[in-house]
Amino acid sequence: MANPQPHVVMLPFPAQGHIKPMLMLAEVLCHAGFRISFVNTDHIHNIIVENIDKSPLSQFPGFRFLSIPDGLPPEHPRDSSSIKDLFTSINSTGKIMFRDLIISLLRRDDLEREEIWHAPCCIIADGIMSTLAIDVEEELEMPVITFRTYSATCTWVYFHLEKLIEQKEIPVREGDEDIDRLVTCITELEKVLRRRDLPSICRCEVDPSILKFFLEQTSKMRRASGLILNTFEDLEAPIIRQLHSIYSKVYTIGPLQALLKSQMDDSPVAGAATGSLRQEDRTCIAWLDKQPAKSVIYVSFGSVVVMSPDQILEFWHGLINSGKPFLWVIRPDLVFGNGPNGLPEEIMCPTNERGYVVSWAPQEEVLAHCAVGGFLTHSGWNSTLESITVGVPMICWPLIVDQKVNSRCVSDIWRVGIDMKDSCDRSTVERMVRVLMEDKDEEIAKSTSKFANLAQKSVREGGSSFCNINKLIEDIRSIQSKKDDCKTK
Ligand SMILES: *[C@@H]1O[C@H](CO)[C@@H](O)[C@H](O)[C@H]1NC(C)=O
Ligand SMILES: *[C@@H]1O[C@H](CO)[C@@H](O)[C@H](O)[C@H]1NC(C)=O
Repeated sequence: MANPQPHVVMLPFPAQGHIKPMLMLAEVLCHAGFRISFVNTDHIHNIIVENIDKSPLSQFPGFRFLSIPDGLPPEHPRDSSSIKDLFTSINSTGKIMFRDLIISLLRRDDLEREEIWHAPCCIIADGIMSTLAIDVEEELEMPVITFRTYSATCTWVYFHLEKLIEQKEIPVREGDEDIDRLVTCITELEKVLRRRDLPSICRCEVDPSILKFFLEQTSKMRRASGLILNTFEDLEAPIIRQLHSIYSKVYTIGPLQALLKSQMDDSPVAGAATGSLRQEDRTCIAWLDKQPAKSVIYVSFGSVVVMSPDQILEFWHGLINSGKPFLWVIRPDLVFGNGPNGLPEEIMCPTNERGYVVSWAPQEEVLAHCAVGGFLTHSGWNSTLESITVGVPMICWPLIVDQKVNSRCVSDIWRVGIDMKDSCDRSTVERMVRVLMEDKDEEIAKSTSKFANLAQKSVREGGSSFCNINKLIEDIRSIQSKKDDCKTK
C-alpha cells in the first residue's frame, strides 16, 4: 500500500506578520498533497474563521484549522502595549494546550469532512514558539522544523543576544553617546551594524521580560531539526552560510508570495483574504489608476506599529511639503490613545487631491501598481521583502522587533532604500521623499532592479528557493516514510 501523504502540524505565533507567511507555506505544502493541521490561538481563530471561505486554502480537503487557548481572558486587548502578557501565557498555558493537542492527534486517526487524518509526522513551528514545540519534539519524538519569519540577518543577530549582553552592548539607550558605534561581535556584520540598529528588544525602554522571552525561544530554537526562512539565497548568502553552523538544513524559500504565484499560474493567487486580519479598502486602486507612472509614494506602517499624534503630524506635513502624491494607510488604531476620530484635525479634513488615505490597503497589489514609485515603510520583514520583489525603493522608519535590523540592511547592505530611523521631523520626511521619488540616487535605482530580478529568478524552476522548497517537501516525505517503516516492523 502506498504511504499516506505526510500530515504536518503548523504552529504560527499569533500575530498577522507571522500567520501570513505560515499560511503561504501551508498553501505550498497543500499543493504538494500534504495534510496540514494549522493551529491558531482561539482568539485568532475566531477572527480568521469569518474569512475562511474566501481563502484559497478552503479548496484543499487536506487543510484544516485547529485552535488552542492562549491563556488570556477573551477581553484582553493583545495589542503591542500588552504583548508581554501574551508572551507569558503562551509560554505557560499555550504550551500545555499544544502538548495536549499533539497527544490527542497521535492517539487516534480523525475523520473530518470525510477525510481520514492519520497521526502527524512533524511540526513546523514559528521560531518564537520554540518553547512549545521543542519539548514536544523531545518527549514525543516528533521532529520540529522551525520557521523563523524574520530575515536571515535578523535571525543571526538573535542568536547573538547572549553574547551582546555579555559584552555589555545592550541594553541600548536612546541618547547614548555611543549609539552609533559598530557592534563587532557578530560575524559578517562587523562593518555595518551599529548599536542603534539592534532589534528593539535590546533598547532599555523595552520590558526586560520581553528580551528574556526571545532569549529563551532562540536558545530552544537551536534544537530544531531544520530552519525555514522566507528569504532568498542571493539576498543574504553570507549570513545563510553562517546559519549552517547551527543547522545542517537551512531552507530559504522566499519570497513566499512570489513562490506561490510561480507554482500555480493556473489557480487563483493567494488572495487578500488569506491571513489578512483587516478589511481592505480597494478604492485606492482606482485612485492609483489615475496617477502618473512611479509618481506616488505609498505609506504604511504595518498592522501593529502605533505612533503619537505628534509623529503622525510630522509625517503629514513632510508628505504634503514634498509635493508628491501619496497613498497612506492610517489604521483606526495607528495613533495611540486616540479613537478613529481622535486624529489631529489637519489629517481628518478632506485632503487636497494629492493624498489618499485608507484604513487598510491590498498591499501587494498597491506595491505592484505602476503608479507607485516608493514605499515609506515600518520595515517589517513581510513588507520589506514584498517591496524588494517588485522593485520599489524604500524609506524606512522602523520601530519594533526586527525592523531596525531590516532597515539597516535595506540602506547599507542591499542599497534598496534609505533609513530614517529614530527621527521623523517634517523636514527630514520631506527631504527623504524627494530624494527617493526624484531618483536622485542612481545606486538605489540600480540595486532595486537588480534584487527584484534575483528575487523573481529564485522562485523559478532551477532557482534557489524553488529547489529548497522541493528539498523540504522531500525531507518531510522521508520523515513520514521512516515512521511508516517503524510501524510495519
Ligand atoms: C504582508 O504582505 C501581504 C502581501 O504579500 C499583504 O497582503 C499583507 O497585508 C502584508 N502585511 C502583513 C503584516 O501581513
Ligand atoms: C517560560 O517558561 C519557562 C518554563 O516553564 C520558565 O522557566 C520561563 O521563566 C518562562 N519565560 C517567560 C518569559 O515567561
